[in-house]
Amino acid sequence: MKRILVFGGKGQLGQCLAKVAQERNMIEMFLFLSQEEGDILDEISLSLLFHRENPEYVINCAAYTAVDQAENERDLCELINKTGSINLAKYCQEIKATLIHISTDFVFEGNIPHLLNEESPTNPINVYGRTKLDGELGIARLLNEHIIIRTSWLYSEIGNNFMKTMKRLASERTELGVIVDQAGTPTYAIDLANTIIDIVKLNHHKYGVYHYSNEGVASWYDFAKAIFDISQIKIKLNPIYTSAYPTKAKRPMYSVMDKTKIKSTFELQIPYWRDSLVKCIEELNKIS
Ligand SMILES: NC(=O)c1ccc[n+]([C@@H]2O[C@H](COP(=O)([O-])OP(=O)(O)OC[C@H]3O[C@@H](n4cnc5c(N)ncnc54)[C@H](OP(=O)(O)O)[C@@H]3O)[C@@H](O)[C@H]2O)c1
Repeated sequence: MKRILVFGGKGQLGQCLAKVAQERNMIEMFLFLSQEEGDILDEISLSLLFHRENPEYVINCAAYTAVDQAENERDLCELINKTGSINLAKYCQEIKATLIHISTDFVFEGNIPHLLNEESPTNPINVYGRTKLDGELGIARLLNEHIIIRTSWLYSEIGNNFMKTMKRLASERTELGVIVDQAGTPTYAIDLANTIIDIVKLNHHKYGVYHYSNEGVASWYDFAKAIFDISQIKIKLNPIYTSAYPTKAKRPMYSVMDKTKIKSTFELQIPYWRDSLVKCIEELNKIS
């Protein structure tokens, strides 16, 4: 197989992909690009890069991911999440590469408590979600050879995420309030990285939108409680309601995704979120 380019290679998911590629003895197939090495907004450099490397697959882990800050930086967020994604689709089309693009459960409004499948109507309620949806639509319009994976609540031993924030806050405080009335599914970025590599290896050409998270349902409170229990951290954890904790960007109240399509298409088994959290905390303990 030809080279695989990974944009956003130094972000959380990009680094998890590198870790998994290393473990699976596939690292030499990949080129992981930092923002400086592969700026998805720099069309001249992109053109040179695509024609020089002539990849078979391009994986886009690059994104503007600061959900609250996006409400004040709409233009920058739109440039990266919409225009940048469309740029990649354009060059993939030019050299006949497949684009694997990562999107989010935040494309949904999440106002009804039922499982969201790939056909469920989208209706983002914040700038980040809107720009991610525009990126998806732009890619689908330009390039048939795309696999868009919507995921949720990513965490891992690498990079910044909710799990790391909880552990840090627990070292600074004796008591913590965490949102109990938003439901979703935590996703171990290493599990997602393994799935992306499984999809590349299968090389099925089964294009379209897919949902991927770990199995199960949790609130942020449940997630935090599990982090503290597994890490044996003693802290008073208080459930709080969204109405008592206003944020700049609104979040979906319920964004649990149906994974039937990705599981059946690529014959995948998806781990339960708490089992993956145990593995992640074991990994974190090894490196800290
Ligand atoms: N994190 C979550 O909870 C979550 C949930 C659902 C979906 N997702 C999606 O999953 C994907 C991966 O997320 P993540 O957690 O790995 O995010 P992340 O850690 O914030 O990584 C994003 C990366 O994109 C890079 N980037 C920003 N602008 C760029 C540009 N113009 N050109 C090239 N690279 C650029 C950033 O580089 P710098 O570090 O140099 O700025 C960063 O390394 C994203 O598409 C995100 O929308 C994430």
